Amino acid sequence: MDCSVLQYIGIFTSLYFIVKIVLKIIEGSRLYIFSTYPNFSKYGKWSVVTGSTDGIGKETAIQLASRGQNIVLISRSEEKLRNVANEIESKHNVQTKCLTIDFSDDEEIYNKIADFLQGLDVGTLVNNVGIAQEISCFHEHPNLSKFLRDIIRLNVISVIKMTQVVLPGMVKRKRGLVLNLSSFAAVKPVKNYAMYSATKTFVDCFAQALSYEYESKGITIQSCMPGTVLTNITKKYGEFQKMPSPETFCKSWLATIGKARWTHGYWKHAIDGWIWSQLSTDLTQTIGEARMNRAMELEKKKRN
Ligand SMILES: NC(=O)c1ccc[n+]([C@@H]2O[C@H](COP(=O)([O-])OP(=O)(O)OC[C@H]3O[C@@H](n4cnc5c(N)ncnc54)[C@H](OP(=O)(O)O)[C@@H]3O)[C@@H](O)[C@H]2O)c1
Ligand SMILES: *[C@@H]1O[C@H](CO)[C@@H](O)[C@H](O)[C@H]1NC(C)=O
Ligand SMILES: *[C@@H]1O[C@H](CO)[C@@H](O)[C@H](O)[C@H]1NC(C)=O
Ligand SMILES: *[C@@H]1O[C@H](CO)[C@@H](O)[C@H](O)[C@H]1NC(C)=O
Ligand SMILES: *[C@@H]1O[C@H](CO)[C@@H](O)[C@H](O)[C@H]1NC(C)=O
Repeated sequence: MDCSVLQYIGIFTSLYFIVKIVLKIIEGSRLYIFSTYPNFSKYGKWSVVTGSTDGIGKETAIQLASRGQNIVLISRSEEKLRNVANEIESKHNVQTKCLTIDFSDDEEIYNKIADFLQGLDVGTLVNNVGIAQEISCFHEHPNLSKFLRDIIRLNVISVIKMTQVVLPGMVKRKRGLVLNLSSFAAVKPVKNYAMYSATKTFVDCFAQALSYEYESKGITIQSCMPGTVLTNITKKYGEFQKMPSPETFCKSWLATIGKARWTHGYWKHAIDGWIWSQLSTDLTQTIGEARMNRAMELEKKKRN
């Protein structure tokens, strides 16, 4: 039987997509089904976690401690820091240090952080601190000037400055791990969420570029783009059951370290993220808007 050119094109296209999907499934299993954890001690004795008193940061600190890491906790409120430090020390046989820092203050805070970390064998840095924004078109965001300053300082400056503080020591020791919390909102631009979406795209791009830059220097850098995880940032939008808890999310995420330059951290987010990245940006705006409207409706219903 003779095949026409069109049939050949059809066969090749189908094969191409089948191979692509099979490769995705293999990659997904490696990351999310056969969970193995790196030996974090091989990077160093101490882990530094920013924004570590709540949500993803707190859970990451706890799970790193359960794997034998001493933890430096950096956040804004002293009381919450003490509570998390006590919780960690009572459950795991590790040391903790707390530093009270407001990342919305100006850049002098990084001198204070550098002094505090002086002499510590910092193997892992988790750039977690970050704020979200109200769902709103750009110029109507409440307290716009203050908000713009804060989101740049918390989501962008904190990541590059913390890395500046910690990276030279890592390069000297020829080992280190840097984890950056980007977001699903960086996969595609998100309407009415422009500042958050843009700052998280910065994080992802920066982390990936650095990961190539420092690979040969023994330093692993990973960017993580989670979908929604049930924390104070997201809980007002309801739909609880669908979101993983910080604990479920962090367990899954930490098992991907050393295996991928970037990850969504959790299997459901990975499937979502892959589909999302295949859709046209026009289409993701329409779907995204419908989702946000639904989320806001749920929020309103819950308030009443
Ligand atoms: N939750 C999600 O669904 C989700 C999805 C994608 C990406 N992310 C990203 O993951 C990261 C963590 O999110 P999360 O949901 O875990 O947040 P969260 O529950 O709101 O926790 C934020 C942490 O940052 C600290 N923090 C906030 N403002 C601070 C400031 N000005 N100075 C110092 N520390 C400050 C908070 O400590 P205090 O309250 O003690 O100050 C708290 O420990 C963020 O970068 C976020 O963008 C989250
Ligand atoms: C982890 O690495 C450290 C330092 O390289 C080593 O001393 C320790 O035995 C390792 N632990 C495991 C469980 O392999
Ligand atoms: C932020 O804006 C709201 C109204 O939009 C106002 O009530 C509040 O005082 C403002 N907060 C600051 C810190 O300026
Ligand atoms: C992400 O990780 C890299 C690794 O060190 C770090 O240099 C960078 O500052 C982090 N932040 C961003 C925004 O990528
Ligand atoms: C959210 O914030 C409240 C009040 O600050 C706090 O008590 C609670 O533990 C936080 N975390 C979560 C996951 O709800």
